[in-house]
Amino acid sequence: MADQPAPASGPDLTQGVAPADFADGKLLGHVGDQEVLLVQSGTDIFAVDAHCTHYHGPLNDGLVVGTTVRCPWHHACFDVRSGEAVRAPALSPLACWRVEQRDGRVVVREKRDQPAPAAQVPADAPNKIVIVGGGAAGFAAAEMLRRRGYRGSIVMLSSDTAAPVDRPNLSKDYLAGAAPEDWVPLRPDGFYTESGIELRLEAEVAAIDTKARRVSLARGGDVAYDRLLLATGAEPVRLQTPGFDQPHVHTLRTLADSRAIIAAAKGARRALVIGASFIGLEVAASLRAREIEVHVVAPEKRPMERVLGSELGGFVRALHEQHGVVFHLEDTVAALDGKRATLKSGGTLDTDLVVVGVGVRPRLALAEQAGLAIDRGITVNAFLETSAAGVFAAGDIARWPDPHSGQNIRVEHWVVAERQGQTAALNMLGHREKYDAVPFFWSQHYDVPINYVGHAEQWDEIAIDGDIAAKDCLLKYRSKGRTLAVASIFRDLASLQAELEMERAIGGE
Ligand SMILES: Cc1cc2nc3c(=O)[nH]c(=O)nc-3n(C[C@H](O)[C@H](O)[C@H](O)COP(=O)(O)OP(=O)(O)OC[C@H]3O[C@@H](n4cnc5c(N)ncnc54)[C@H](O)[C@@H]3O)c2cc1C
Ligand code: FES
Repeated sequence: MADQPAPASGPDLTQGVAPADFADGKLLGHVGDQEVLLVQSGTDIFAVDAHCTHYHGPLNDGLVVGTTVRCPWHHACFDVRSGEAVRAPALSPLACWRVEQRDGRVVVREKRDQPAPAAQVPADAPNKIVIVGGGAAGFAAAEMLRRRGYRGSIVMLSSDTAAPVDRPNLSKDYLAGAAPEDWVPLRPDGFYTESGIELRLEAEVAAIDTKARRVSLARGGDVAYDRLLLATGAEPVRLQTPGFDQPHVHTLRTLADSRAIIAAAKGARRALVIGASFIGLEVAASLRAREIEVHVVAPEKRPMERVLGSELGGFVRALHEQHGVVFHLEDTVAALDGKRATLKSGGTLDTDLVVVGVGVRPRLALAEQAGLAIDRGITVNAFLETSAAGVFAAGDIARWPDPHSGQNIRVEHWVVAERQGQTAALNMLGHREKYDAVPFFWSQHYDVPINYVGHAEQWDEIAIDGDIAAKDCLLKYRSKGRTLAVASIFRDLASLQAELEMERAIGGE
């Protein structure tokens, strides 16, 4: 018998519901076979698609704040009046329906035409914007410029061979073989031409002349700018250990890197992953999904301990061991002779494939050459301006004054890079918008997501609520009684609430 599609949840909203049926400002129902979420904001009620446009997260499990709804999975935020994705990682709007309130009933009518986002282009907006980098920050900036109605020239210069991709997927579903090719590009090829974004691939920028306001390409030629966004991201650290320059040794940053690992995994029996942090362990999980024997070698005592603490680190280790990963912790590879790795502790491991995930370095060469202020990253102010007039920086390269921690921080998070790109876009147009979003990242290991809000480089206490082993927990990283960051597993609503509390603590929304 053919599979029957799952019936849509909740009441038929075209038949009307009572406002008293709303819980926490939301009510899930359907219109035909489409799930629709009703959201109450004061006396107004809005109807939007019930699924996030990022990875289809269930917005009914999210948080309503004012006229927005926030996604439980990776904290995207939508304006329910227009459906607009006002905070990354979602970039596309939600579909909206017309709502009528009559005789004490809320009735959903026809789908509305997608309202156009409000234009925000001042009369003295620059003519030429150049973006160096075709990653999270660069793409989000270009998209936001067009979304806000900017009609001037946008040139996006990327040293990559591929148009902007969903980089987090490259170590997760895509590498595991669970994501089709068309999940990976952030937008289909036609988007750039249709949007008037001149995307130039394999276009490495070699120098910036901040006085003449021009960038020079490594392959020759200059591009003039009125405003410049640097979003060159980071590059994987490579090991200098003997043997690590061989072709079966990989790092992972680009789509080409992920494809090379997939090609090498075909026919491989055993893989060696160097490094037990996020990328290394996501790679380990994905290679296990391909039924390859995986050994992880790393110097630390527990995986991810530096970021998540020993309790969660211990859990992550046990989780990977349950899936068959073999750890060689407090150890390193002393030499790789062909396919035989010799460990510092003395043993040897034969391997078909090696993936090195030992961290990244921000790509600062351009900024250094241009004489920009640098402090372990490009120094930017709250508006993401660098020390050179008209030059902005965003994403993995930027160190910004984070109002939540009170420190100048630089992080390597997808959502932060995208949101910074969006803020930089508005500021390049002449707005003065401070970047004050609470840092957020997620990581996925098998079927276990870990969400993290805030920023804690050090803490004096971790308060654990729930049961880590049962995958139902919220950990608060505290210093002097103040919560700096919160990590959680399957406590999505609490994670969103923690983010909101951090926003409110600095007088945000
Ligand atoms: C495999 C993988 C998985 C990840 N998973 C997660 C995750 O689950 N959650 C999370 O929060 N973060 C994750 N991250 C981190 C996240 O992807 C980064 O923080 C984010 O991509 C940073 O965005 P960016 O725009 O600063 O840099 P990037 O996305 O790296 O983009 C940089 C761009 O600049 C280009 N470039 C560099 N130098 C030049 C030059 N001189 N001239 C022209 N172009 C140049 C590059 O080609 C690239 O297009 C992951 C990273 C990787 C590699
Ligand atoms: S699924 Fe909603 S933010 Fe990712």
